[in-house]
Amino acid sequence: MKDVPFTLELNAPDFIPSQYDKHIRRTLSAMKGQYSDQESYACLLAKEDSLLYEVYEVTRPELAGELLQGISIVHPGQVGDEYFMTKGHFHTVLDTAEVYICQKGQGVMVMETPEGDWAVEPLYPGCVLYVPPRWAHRSVNTSPDEDLVTFFVYPGNAGHDYGAIEEQGFRKLVVERNGQPTIIDNPRWSAPEVEK
Ligand code: F6R
Ligand code: ZN
Repeated sequence: MKDVPFTLELNAPDFIPSQYDKHIRRTLSAMKGQYSDQESYACLLAKEDSLLYEVYEVTRPELAGELLQGISIVHPGQVGDEYFMTKGHFHTVLDTAEVYICQKGQGVMVMETPEGDWAVEPLYPGCVLYVPPRWAHRSVNTSPDEDLVTFFVYPGNAGHDYGAIEEQGFRKLVVERNGQPTIIDNPRWSAPEVEK
């Protein structure tokens, strides 16, 4: 890998970077146990293992001084009344932040800390979202028909820890109610035990 400056272009309409090293595709089957309406999940999966989201990554060495960047595209759709979304993760090095810049679409970022604090921030074209260190994050596409496209950048040594989220999901779910995105409690989630 050459250590020289380089420029990427994010070209409309799909914003796929002009150069990238990895293209990750996550389908419905990769989200087993993540959607609260398990019957709808099984029903959809029986029909087709649909593509939910894609990530185009520009790889750099996994070092603290490096920055990894790329584009995340969450396609529109729902499992029951819950919107298509990413798996979501903590960074393995918990004290690492991330910046997201929304290029296209409508959605939200669902976030939470290991202590159970939570936040949901809107994603819309041109907005810049700062995910502080220690906050797990999941992008949710709330549009009925448009991709949610975000550019992201985070420290090279961050790593991804999917374990806690796979176990019980995020504290909050984003579902469609009366045609509107609505935040509800995740019945599967339980508060972390507080050490005394
Ligand atoms: C990197 C990051 C994004 C996500 C991407 C897919 O730290 O947050 O690049 O990796 O949006 O989401 P996950 O990794 O949760 O499947
Ligand atoms: Zn991340």
